[in-house]
Amino acid sequence: MSGSGLSQDSTDRPSGRSNARTGGTVINQTSTPDRPMTLTKDSITQTTLLHDRYGTAFDVVFNHAWNTSLTTLLSHRSIRAYLSKPLPSGTLELLVAAAQSASTSSNLQTWSVVAVEDPARKERLSQLANGQAHIRQAPLFLVWLADLARLKQVTEQRELPHAGLEYLETFLTAAIDASLAAQNAAIAAESLGLGTVYIGAMRNRPDAVAAELGLPPHVFAVFGLCVGYADPAKPAAIKPRLSQTAVLHQEQYSLDAQLPAIAEYNDIMKAFYTKQKMTVEGDWSQHSSDRIATAEALRNRANLREILNKLGFALR
Ligand SMILES: Cc1cc2nc3c(=O)[nH]c(=O)nc-3n(C[C@H](O)[C@H](O)[C@H](O)COP(=O)(O)O)c2cc1C
Repeated sequence: MSGSGLSQDSTDRPSGRSNARTGGTVINQTSTPDRPMTLTKDSITQTTLLHDRYGTAFDVVFNHAWNTSLTTLLSHRSIRAYLSKPLPSGTLELLVAAAQSASTSSNLQTWSVVAVEDPARKERLSQLANGQAHIRQAPLFLVWLADLARLKQVTEQRELPHAGLEYLETFLTAAIDASLAAQNAAIAAESLGLGTVYIGAMRNRPDAVAAELGLPPHVFAVFGLCVGYADPAKPAAIKPRLSQTAVLHQEQYSLDAQLPAIAEYNDIMKAFYTKQKMTVEGDWSQHSSDRIATAEALRNRANLREILNKLGFALR
């Protein structure tokens, strides 16, 4: 996706030039108050992307040269409309190599992925995920698995104990491993000009998803990931995040310090929804609260512990 975001959502962006003149929202290592930075493609890219990531100016001086990895990371936006264009050969294997390059707890590699390209299977998985159309549209749907079956088999083959697999800690390890692997694949895909969107709705019906994918006990679909070429007719904008005042704590955590940042973010997101013509009720605080208000608001996932137990995870 790198680069593709630069043509969107540009009306209220700061221009690189005015920022440089006024002291700069973002200044690279060549810039000082006496020697304003030379405007380059990179400096405009970094200013634009950092502005869009927060929906406001990013007033931090950093002493690093910009690079294409940062452009890819900061350009991320979820893509929910895909072309039917197939992926070049080898794409899947490249994404999995990127996924396998992620760190993994104790090198246990307690994750796997199922690549789904069969239209009928994508359709069925879409139905299990509230009918989300992008699952059908994307040429590749990756289902990321917390996988303790492989280790169980390894220990059984050697007639060794495996009581550690029964603990919540080990399940969490597998879910973390799967998440880190998936995110590496997502970034790799975006670096190749592809779009992605995660599908947490794979957890709406974990038992049915397990049956569809032929998962053995001790394997759980943590989420899916659509991969494909974004439909340029339906562009997606970079969605602003909370300011660093809310999420970055120096030495010790502070809850109170976050309130002004959240108030500011509510305003930024209201403006974002209006601009993107998104029908989102209330502000970020309101709809985030709605998502956690009741067990029902968890959308079929309130009973996840029991389902995991049935799938072979004791979660002690
Ligand atoms: C674990 C996870 C599950 C998600 N599940 C869904 C989903 O089921 N459907 C969907 O459209 N987006 C889903 N998303 C995408 C988020 O809504 C999206 O990342 C968030 O709104 C921020 O937007 P951005 O990715 O465009 O920056 C999911 C994201 C994550 C990380």
